[in-house]
Amino acid sequence: MCGIVGYAGGDQAAPILLKGLAKLEYRGYDSAGVAVYDGTSIQVVKTKGRLKVLSDKIHQGADLSGVVGIGHTRWATHGKPSDVNAHPHMSQSGKFAVVHNGIIENYLSLRNFLTEQGYRFVSETDTEVVAQLLDYFYEGNLLDAVVKTLGKIRGSYALGILCKDHPDCIIGVRKDSPLIVGLGKGENFIASDIPAILNRTRDIYRLEENEIAVVKKTGVAIYNLDKKIVEKTPCHIDWDISSAEKCGYDHFMAKEIMEQPKAVRDTISPRIRDGEIVLDDIRLTEEQIRNFTRIFIVACGSAYHVGVVAKYIFEQYTRIPVEVDVASEFRYRHPIIDHKVLVLVISQSGETADTLAALREAKRLGARTISIVNVVGSSIASESDDVLYTWAGPEIAVATTKAYSTQLAVVYLLAIYMAEKLGSMSKTDYRFYISQLESLPDKIQEALNTKEHVRRLADQFYRSDDIFFIGRNLDYAMSLEGSLKLKEISYIHSEAYAAGELKHGTISLIEEGTLVVALATQRRLFEKMMSNVKEVKARGAVVLGVTTDNNTQIEKETDCAFYVPQICDMMLPSLAVVPLQMFAYYVAFLKGCDIDKPRNLAKSVTVE
Ligand code: F6R
Repeated sequence: MCGIVGYAGGDQAAPILLKGLAKLEYRGYDSAGVAVYDGTSIQVVKTKGRLKVLSDKIHQGADLSGVVGIGHTRWATHGKPSDVNAHPHMSQSGKFAVVHNGIIENYLSLRNFLTEQGYRFVSETDTEVVAQLLDYFYEGNLLDAVVKTLGKIRGSYALGILCKDHPDCIIGVRKDSPLIVGLGKGENFIASDIPAILNRTRDIYRLEENEIAVVKKTGVAIYNLDKKIVEKTPCHIDWDISSAEKCGYDHFMAKEIMEQPKAVRDTISPRIRDGEIVLDDIRLTEEQIRNFTRIFIVACGSAYHVGVVAKYIFEQYTRIPVEVDVASEFRYRHPIIDHKVLVLVISQSGETADTLAALREAKRLGARTISIVNVVGSSIASESDDVLYTWAGPEIAVATTKAYSTQLAVVYLLAIYMAEKLGSMSKTDYRFYISQLESLPDKIQEALNTKEHVRRLADQFYRSDDIFFIGRNLDYAMSLEGSLKLKEISYIHSEAYAAGELKHGTISLIEEGTLVVALATQRRLFEKMMSNVKEVKARGAVVLGVTTDNNTQIEKETDCAFYVPQICDMMLPSLAVVPLQMFAYYVAFLKGCDIDKPRNLAKSVTVE
């Protein structure tokens, strides 16, 4: 989704802004622009298309002189992708330039009001009203104008503001959309995400809701809406810079797939001590765990698919009934929730608008909330009662891989932990499952080692028009993720079905040569799955089976197969997902798709 960078320092701003925006490209965007104060006025250059188009237009920034500026990558919501709708947006007077992530919900009424006041609008965006409102309220005091403007706008926003009368500073402000302030030496920044500034500083402030940062070369001051100074403690980012670089891989997605053993190990290891699961990051008492009558799991996209796996895991281990909901549905369906309900919210970014809204709804209804989040200090992490971080490191590719795997790892940790407290799992099983969990990183590595085989099969099937994924039970949950991964990056039409459900309609779509990926890792359901394989083969399907090592029986029933290492059935999803991710990657690679930035998609979906 949209990206923001702002710079106030001693160097030329434009090249720094372009470099920062390049680090945010992974979020997905359709146009880009920069605004720099050149000593006399604010110069804006913006264009539809890739950042390279913008960069070429201003000769990598050399054409724009000035040491203070803001930049933006836009993912269209209000108004199609176009030069004029790209950010920054100027006020009619030329006094203000604004970049914005999020949505101004009441922009139409504000636009009407401002039009009546004589303001003319040039774009179709909601953002332009912010620039004009700032101008409307401005009487010489910038902070006053910002606070008055914030008092009028409704919705979600991270804003970067440049004012011609205060050319030494940029303003950053946020509500329901993330924004950080970077603290450099003789230079300071704003950014919607850390990678944008990581090559210049590692010290940051995370802005909280409605905080206003006044960022100058000489220092940063943070105010609240009462215009009182807010004291904040800087936070040091200790990621390896290579976490935000491709390090020789063709794509971030390939790198992130290969990083899964480490990401899962980093997530699990600190939480298993002397053979016990220790979750000292959450404050759930045994009594609270015993009192839960139900668990709701709420998330979007792949994180929702983790939730579908988690339902089986929690119900099996804890015997507490679980409901899984897509966050955008949960928030409007009046869920039956009280203080005896645990709501688990899963999100890589911690900023997904629907998931955040669902979390707020759950809290409003009195539920106990725990989030499983990757981005430290994100909105969902801050607002939930407890947070279990996935230590996946920054995930740059739009299609999630290592975040998915670490979310799943946290689900196992939490479910086994709760089961032990509830007494629903014997001590022997508890120890067994912990040992299985500890073996996961190495087994994921073994699964990754089959990549050449997966690539060969991708080579065989990448020209397919339709690909079906089927499975039962946990394999069905995996089918959902395998299918999403494939379609989102390769643009091949794909559907996931519970294998037993296919014959209730969808089997009519199977014709001679249709590829069906049949997941058959669950031992007790293997025979049933093979019956479903026979059904599709009888209609002409080509079947690619997925099962565990040494289960060569699958070769009698299917045309080809992926094998994953043996582990307890409950943890097989963590291994089965690996060849599915690699298959999607190689298919998209062979089709020449823009793998890290698939069309129309955004990394962090901060609008409803
Ligand atoms: C798919 C994918 C998305 C996200 C979804 C939720 O590969 O990445 O489906 O899983 O948009 O995002 P988060 O986890 O940031 O809430």
